[in-house]
Amino acid sequence: MCGIVGYIGKQKAAPIILDGLERLEYRGYDSAGMAVYDGEKLNQAKATGRLNVLYNLTRGGQTLPGTMGIGHTRWATHGVPSTVNAHPHTNTAGTIAVVQNGIIENYQALRRRLESRGYKFASDTDTEVLPHLLDNYYNGDPRKAIIQMLQQITGSFALGIVFADHPDHLYSVRKECPLIVGKGEGEYFIASDVTAILKYTRDVVYLGNLEIADLTADGAFYFNIDEEEISKEVSTVDWDVSAAEKGGYEHFMLKEMMEQRQAVRDTLNPRLKKGEIVIEELKMTDEEIANVRKLFIVACGSAYHTGVTAKYIFENLARLPVEVDLASEFRYRDPLLEKDDLVVVISQSGETADTLAALRMASEAGCKILAIVNVVGSTIAREADFVMYTWAGPEIAVATTKAYSAQLIALYLLAMKFAGARGYLHGRKLRSMIDALTKLPDQIEMLLNNREELQRIASRFIAARAVFFIGRGIDYAICLEGSLKLKEISYIHSEAYAAGELKHGTISLIEDGTLVAAVSTQASLSEKLLSNIKEVKARGAVILSITTMGNTDIENESDYTVMLPETHPLFTDSLAIIPLQMLAYYIAVGRGCDVDKPRNLAKSVTVE
Ligand code: F6R
Repeated sequence: MCGIVGYIGKQKAAPIILDGLERLEYRGYDSAGMAVYDGEKLNQAKATGRLNVLYNLTRGGQTLPGTMGIGHTRWATHGVPSTVNAHPHTNTAGTIAVVQNGIIENYQALRRRLESRGYKFASDTDTEVLPHLLDNYYNGDPRKAIIQMLQQITGSFALGIVFADHPDHLYSVRKECPLIVGKGEGEYFIASDVTAILKYTRDVVYLGNLEIADLTADGAFYFNIDEEEISKEVSTVDWDVSAAEKGGYEHFMLKEMMEQRQAVRDTLNPRLKKGEIVIEELKMTDEEIANVRKLFIVACGSAYHTGVTAKYIFENLARLPVEVDLASEFRYRDPLLEKDDLVVVISQSGETADTLAALRMASEAGCKILAIVNVVGSTIAREADFVMYTWAGPEIAVATTKAYSAQLIALYLLAMKFAGARGYLHGRKLRSMIDALTKLPDQIEMLLNNREELQRIASRFIAARAVFFIGRGIDYAICLEGSLKLKEISYIHSEAYAAGELKHGTISLIEDGTLVAAVSTQASLSEKLLSNIKEVKARGAVILSITTMGNTDIENESDYTVMLPETHPLFTDSLAIIPLQMLAYYIAVGRGCDVDKPRNLAKSVTVE
């Protein structure tokens, strides 16, 4: 949730740390801080609010000279956002500084123990126990002190650690939370997300759980909790720095929406070969696929919504029973898992704590796990049996758009692969579906180019108090995502409703002028939805419909209509979501919201 950046080398550390933190601000942004060694001691600067407060306070890092340091941008979990609670945290002498992402679960017991030994705490955070613990164990050897500290703490965390009397070393360790080491020329970086350091290097080392990095300007030494050296491979990240910059767009969200053609194409094309669907990553024979008893799809937030869509598609196309679960529910509901079930976990970040826990639980139950993930080398990608990457590139805006679209494509391909292996999809039907798939990127682009119309419609609803999204079948799944997009970035309350459910309660909330977005892309359900539109209209609703080209019945009942180009009915989510993303975006911009960093939210939720 929070962001970590550290630097050791020959350049000024503070501006590099600030630059990296700026790229991580989407992960957490209620306070920030840095500690930099100036040749004699560790100097700190901390500030509440957005990163630019820290930037101004340190004049772009100039007030913190030195070539080694650590920084952090925080999303408060333990203790309110304040300068005192901002990281880094230090021991009382200020000679050991620590930044942490994650949670130290046993911090209260540790704190009591340390306090009984005379340690004084300044903050309410769990992190502050770490520098005091290190201080407690430190007798001149940082590696030993770190190992002893690790033996005491429980939880999931990623740490950057510096010692004033070992100023040529920067230490880092992780357990469950993401952290990478970047290797430059005569310099090393640590970061909780590769986008923070892409500007400086694309050579990275993925630290494993409880692997410790001891970095100097000239080299890296990796060791485990038994202080045994371990060798680590350097991987090259193929994202380039422009992918993590706004590139002239006002917001990352807009830029990422506009990248959807590319994200969809990059996820699709490598898996279409000579009229066949080839998913090399899924190392299962057709026979093994055909023998899968049941599919569980598990994810959080928008990724869960792609799972809801996928359930309709798998069941329709491959005639395979599917259960879709929120990871936070699945992990505690004791699901009836059997060895020949396949569990598909979906995650953009590959680090979401609940999704990861669900993966582990299913894996322990003996199920094979297929992960659909965007971030290469992420924990979920590393722990799954099979990984199908969505090639959407880095997603910076908190609200997902292009990763969502890429996830849908991965799921369509998977469902088609299953349908083929189970004998339900071949010949003309397969060809026409592949044809529809290959048209999607350009159709998405066409809808994106129509954004001025959405901007005009959005301008009328900037003051809306509540918005309802209604649809049936797959259209209901689209509504779930459309509604989440709107509420998370514009703070307008919105609800997604299976249209047939309206009469069972929600319709009492419709009043004069309430905006109802009605999604109708399924010909077989169009008439039913038309009746639902009439019902809410009769109670004063204003209707924005998203429907397929030529559906004049729906258009005639609507105040505003967005027509979608023709595609296969099972793929309509990929098109219908575009105007809904745009609607959310332009309403949020019109309300002056911080679209890329909505309040209370962080991009990757690595705590439960
Ligand atoms: C909403 C959004 C979140 C994520 C959810 C899962 O716009 O982005 O709902 O979809 O937090 O995150 P990942 O996909 O990283 O597991």
